[in-house]
Amino acid sequence: MCGIVAYVGPKDAAPILLEGLQRLEYRGYDSAGVVVSNRGLKLRKVKGRVADLAKAVPAKFKGTLGIGHTRWATHGVPSDENAHPHLSTDERIAVVHNGIIENADELRAKLVAEGVEFVSETDTEVLAHLIARTVAETETLEEAVRKALKSIVGTYGIAVVDSERPKEIVVARNGSPIVLGLGEKEMFAASDVSALVRYTRQVVHLEDGELAVLTADGFHTFASGGRETAKEPLTVDWDAGHYDTGGYEHYLLKEISEQPESIARTLRGRLDERFHIAHLGGLNMDARETRSFRRVKIIGCGSAYYSGQIGAQLIEELARIPADAEPASEYRYRNPVIDPDTLYVAISQSGETYDTLAAVQEIKRKGGRVIGIVNAVGSAIAREVDGGIYLHAGPEVSVASTKAFTSTAIAFALLALHFGRVHDLSPSDGRRIVEGLRKLPDQIEQILKQGERIAELAKKYADHPSMMFVGRVRGYPVAREGAQKLKEISYVHAEAYPASELKHGPLALIGPDMPTVAIVPDDELLDKNLTTLGEIRARGGRVLMVGHRQPDAKLADDVIVIPKNEIELDPILLTIPLQLLAYHAAVALERDVDKPRNLAKSVTVE
Ligand code: AGP
Repeated sequence: MCGIVAYVGPKDAAPILLEGLQRLEYRGYDSAGVVVSNRGLKLRKVKGRVADLAKAVPAKFKGTLGIGHTRWATHGVPSDENAHPHLSTDERIAVVHNGIIENADELRAKLVAEGVEFVSETDTEVLAHLIARTVAETETLEEAVRKALKSIVGTYGIAVVDSERPKEIVVARNGSPIVLGLGEKEMFAASDVSALVRYTRQVVHLEDGELAVLTADGFHTFASGGRETAKEPLTVDWDAGHYDTGGYEHYLLKEISEQPESIARTLRGRLDERFHIAHLGGLNMDARETRSFRRVKIIGCGSAYYSGQIGAQLIEELARIPADAEPASEYRYRNPVIDPDTLYVAISQSGETYDTLAAVQEIKRKGGRVIGIVNAVGSAIAREVDGGIYLHAGPEVSVASTKAFTSTAIAFALLALHFGRVHDLSPSDGRRIVEGLRKLPDQIEQILKQGERIAELAKKYADHPSMMFVGRVRGYPVAREGAQKLKEISYVHAEAYPASELKHGPLALIGPDMPTVAIVPDDELLDKNLTTLGEIRARGGRVLMVGHRQPDAKLADDVIVIPKNEIELDPILLTIPLQLLAYHAAVALERDVDKPRNLAKSVTVE
């Protein structure tokens, strides 16, 4: 999704902006542009990659203040004209914008009636003209921006420059992230920390409705009414190296391979061998309060939602508290009943997914208690919730989520252990889970060693137009995540079904052209799953089984065998081969693995 970078300081702005935009490429975009201020605004923007923009920027593109943008088209096709920054007609104001201005058509019509000529189809250009109209009458750029924003309905993260005030940048946020980066006699801003870490690790997150004025000497932040706000900088844990591919061909493979460490980080300091419990200080809940919840409702989008389904099963199994997961994108629109005895759990890797954030706000508005399971420290969802668990999985750059998915499942295992041990989970079962969790990093390492074989299997299966993924109970969310990974990065159509549902409809699809990936752990449902394999094979369907043992040769064409852990933790290990399968299928089909078409890393619009 769109990205923003801004710089003011003693250095040449253009190289810093271009480097920042490159760091934001992973979010997905179709065009890019920069403006620098130096006795007027200098603009370059192109449809295409940041590398194309860099070529279009001339050597004499000098200026020590500037803003840059990568655009992901919403209003108007990808083109040079529709790329940001957008200028006012007199070229005094330049704006970059993430988000959607919902009343753009209405505002555009008014401005056109007043004689303004538009050069793009975007909603953002409206903002440039609105600010230009007010800036002449206001004493500060900040005031002009605030006034213009009052007429806007929708979401935005913006950065604005004024050629007449060449020492300051105004940024503002409403629903689309803006992070300030604090340097030595220089200031940065971006829509994502990844664009800042090469220059600084001291950051300040803007809240919705907040606006900030940046100069080389520092920054001032203001609430929507104009009152100055006080902000404490946060130190980001990750440096620029964490955002590199680290010698791997793709970020995705790096992130899949990192899971032994990312899981170890999610667990670090949280397991207690004496009482066989989990320490989760971030929940801000004492034992009495922990006991008081009668239900758990989990929300998240896409893979985060599927990891929530794993979480719901862990909570029901270990804590015997009714739990279920629902897509946050649906939940927020269905006027949900909020129950005081329910604990709400919001999941997000980025912490910026708009649908999940809006669902959290809706629950809180109705008085519900929400905790977050979030990877990005200081992100909007992390700030909005009443407490939670940070994943500490490290930056996830590839659009397809992998290590955040498994770390989220781990966080749920910890939460389930925590709840279970204040309810009826026995010390011996607690010990069993603690020991199982400790074994996971080594067991994942063992699965990763099968990478080459899984690559061969991926080649074998990737040329089918469609694949079926099935699993029962604990295996079902794994099947859903496996299908999601395959379709989003390889574009092979994939369906996921509970194995028990096959004969109620989708079995009609099974035949030689539709292979099935079957999730068959060695649990109490093993025999039922093997029967399903028999039904598939009887219809000429090919089967790739992922499980703990080699079944009768008649039941599966290929088997990926994984190590055995506690049955409740099976979904975590079962997921790893499916990530590798999707990755190698995408490589075999020569897809843009880290930046699949039409998708963005963090979906900050509705
Ligand atoms: C995962 O591979 C997807 N790219 C997507 O489903 C993602 O998990 C979803 O958009 C939620 O993102 P979040 O975890 O950052 O909120």
